[in-house]
Amino acid sequence: MNVHSASQQSPYRQTLLDKMPAAGVVAEIGVWKGAFSRNILKVANPRKLFLIDPWICDPEFMIPGDFFDGNSAANQQEMDNIHNGVCRELASDIVEIVRKTSENAASDFSDAFFDWVYIDGNHYYDYVRQDLDLWFPKVKPGGFVTGDDYLWRDKDGSRPVATAIADFLKTTPCPEAVTIGDQFVIRTALAESGE
Ligand SMILES: C[S@@+](CC[C@H](N)C(=O)[O-])C[C@H]1O[C@@H](n2cnc3c(N)ncnc32)[C@H](O)[C@@H]1O
Repeated sequence: MNVHSASQQSPYRQTLLDKMPAAGVVAEIGVWKGAFSRNILKVANPRKLFLIDPWICDPEFMIPGDFFDGNSAANQQEMDNIHNGVCRELASDIVEIVRKTSENAASDFSDAFFDWVYIDGNHYYDYVRQDLDLWFPKVKPGGFVTGDDYLWRDKDGSRPVATAIADFLKTTPCPEAVTIGDQFVIRTALAESGE
């Protein structure tokens, strides 16, 4: 599904991180081994970072042979080991690991809680639409909903992430929606300005 490995991350991610406010409250949805989580910590210096992923070995959540750098976990034990490794390395006063699906985790947070979120979970249309619907209200006015793999193509040639975003924006006007290579950045409207 995702073609980036830890050593081959999209160069556009750095540009995205440079655009994000420092010392924010942040969520990454879809964490895998924490490669981008480390970059968020290093570059954006969040005051709080929630890492949200169910770490479930199931075709619904990871597509064997077509997932993160061509690799996927062979079984649940391997997924548990990946989760344990992320906890061991990254859990801290700043980083909270939330072992839940995006759809189960969203209700844990009040509206307008985050300065920005990064969506990189399930890349199929219905899931991306759901993620946008769920997480948009959780971001403060003037904050950012961002994510990965805007250009990802399914086997049928369609672009599920790009299409889901375009459809979402038809009903939710935003002051800024841009792509930076394969990254997307959507700014949420300011509360009173009518943007
Ligand atoms: C492409 S990887 C994430 C890579 C990570 N953001 C990085 O760049 O290092 C996708 C991850 O999304 C997770 N995932 C799949 N479905 C999900 C869902 N519904 N909610 C949250 N995470 C999900 C998978 O378990 C997998 O670890």
